[in-house]
Amino acid sequence: MIAIYPGSFDPITLGHLDIITRGSQLFEKVIVAVLSNPSKKPLFTVEKRIEQITYCTKNLSNVEIDSFAGLTVTYAKLKSAKVLLRGLRVLSDFEKELQMAHTNKTLQEDIETVFLATTKEYSFLSSSVVKEIAQFGGEIAHLVPKEIAEDVYSYYQKL
Ligand code: PNS
Repeated sequence: MIAIYPGSFDPITLGHLDIITRGSQLFEKVIVAVLSNPSKKPLFTVEKRIEQITYCTKNLSNVEIDSFAGLTVTYAKLKSAKVLLRGLRVLSDFEKELQMAHTNKTLQEDIETVFLATTKEYSFLSSSVVKEIAQFGGEIAHLVPKEIAEDVYSYYQKL
């Protein structure tokens, strides 16, 4: 069974990697799908994010990286995926995630959303938290893979 793990991944964190790694043990194939959304102002281009995620998942043979625009369910259908994979960190995630899952179900009945509880060490972690800390020169080495930390720091140094 193929699972799509959709998201912004701006940038990928250790929390995302936790979900990808555990998802890759549950599904035949996991496609990490980076949403291309021009209306958001991302730190990294879609191409850069694909490069970063590809690097971080190079040891996972059944993980593919791609990008998509538009509806996640349309992309999932195109890839013959039956599952949308999402991580749940804390209760406050639940409301938004349940709304998305229900919406997606109304759009494409045969695609299921499967939630994995994020490993508790990463339950506070988000790409936004990483950006906020890095912006003020704080330590992010425990939040993202080393190479990603370098990319994030270089971004803010160039500003
Ligand atoms: O990493 P994020 O930003 O939490 O991911 C959100 C994402 C990409 C999963 C969500 O915004 C999404 O699926 N966007 C595509 C548009 C879509 O399918 N909308 C209908 C579901 S509400």
